[in-house]
Amino acid sequence: MEKVLSGKPVAAALNKAAKRILAEHPMEPKMLLIQVGSEAASAYYVQSILKNAAKFGCKAELMSLPDDSGQDYLLKQIQRANTDPYVHGIMIQKPLPKSFDESLINLSVNPDKDLDALNPINLGRIMAETEGFLPCTPAAVIYSLKYYGIDPVGKNTVILGRSNVVGKPLANILLWKKLNATVTVCHSRTANLADICRNADILISAIGIPHFVKADMVKENAVLIDVGINEITGAEGKAIYVGDMDYKALYDKALALTPVPGGIGRITTSLLYLNLIKAALIAKGINKSVDEYIDLVFVENT
Ligand SMILES: NC(=O)c1ccc[n+]([C@@H]2O[C@H](COP(=O)([O-])OP(=O)(O)OC[C@H]3O[C@@H](n4cnc5c(N)ncnc54)[C@H](OP(=O)(O)O)[C@@H]3O)[C@@H](O)[C@H]2O)c1
Repeated sequence: MEKVLSGKPVAAALNKAAKRILAEHPMEPKMLLIQVGSEAASAYYVQSILKNAAKFGCKAELMSLPDDSGQDYLLKQIQRANTDPYVHGIMIQKPLPKSFDESLINLSVNPDKDLDALNPINLGRIMAETEGFLPCTPAAVIYSLKYYGIDPVGKNTVILGRSNVVGKPLANILLWKKLNATVTVCHSRTANLADICRNADILISAIGIPHFVKADMVKENAVLIDVGINEITGAEGKAIYVGDMDYKALYDKALALTPVPGGIGRITTSLLYLNLIKAALIAKGINKSVDEYIDLVFVENT
């Protein structure tokens, strides 16, 4: 197994699977991306999603709403997209303005077009281990482990962070009977967090604190998955991105570890487009599992 679990080959394999699906089932899946306001980090992410659409043989349209457009107007646009047969997938860029009720927005997205898998129906499907969409970041962790042949069965797997977008869905997916990890989830009120981390065979961090995980918090030969993306000021006064884990200090102790940038974050756009392709297959009534294609490509790559 490689020591550095780069996201690049994983993303390339996922892209290959996406192309293969569309070659066998010709169609042009369309995503509607809705952004409210113009927060700089969000705008950057949105542009990178739009830029990648053609690479996947998909279409992505941006609906950019001003900050003061109001929640009711957003809900109306979502309702329209929910029933538009030319829109296969919907993504609502976060963060939304503070006055918006995020749970109501998540609930209003058609579960069959819910690319972020934040509708409680899709979150429930994850808990029940039934077919549905997987949120992109937890899915990136799962496919990264799979690509590099890291089997979580029976492993003490510790997740730092319990957000609805990363920690909680990831914990539930890792508990699935086809993955069989033994999962502990930690958060800001966890007592003896370092002791719990030291017991982890697989340690996953998604808390958003730069270099939070230090060498004395991990056991020898642990697999370290860093989901965190944190902006800090680098040596020359420039903004740089680092993870939640102190990569350099952890390198020697880890069996394998993900870099930041270039690790988990590198995979998420591919999974967003695979979710879109899945949504288009559902809309066309094609009963084909996206995972079958991914598994095949992963096997070819080993
Ligand atoms: N790679 C990607 O594509 C991707 C995607 C999404 C997010 N991210 C990154 O992942 C990180 C987490 O994102 P998120 O959206 O899940 O963040 P979030 O909603 O802010 O959740 C952070 C979680 O970390 C916990 N936490 C905070 N301080 C802690 C501490 N000192 N000890 C233990 N737990 C602590 C919080 O605990 P409480 O619940 O107790 O407050 C919370 O559960 C961020 O760096 C974000 O940029 C990356």
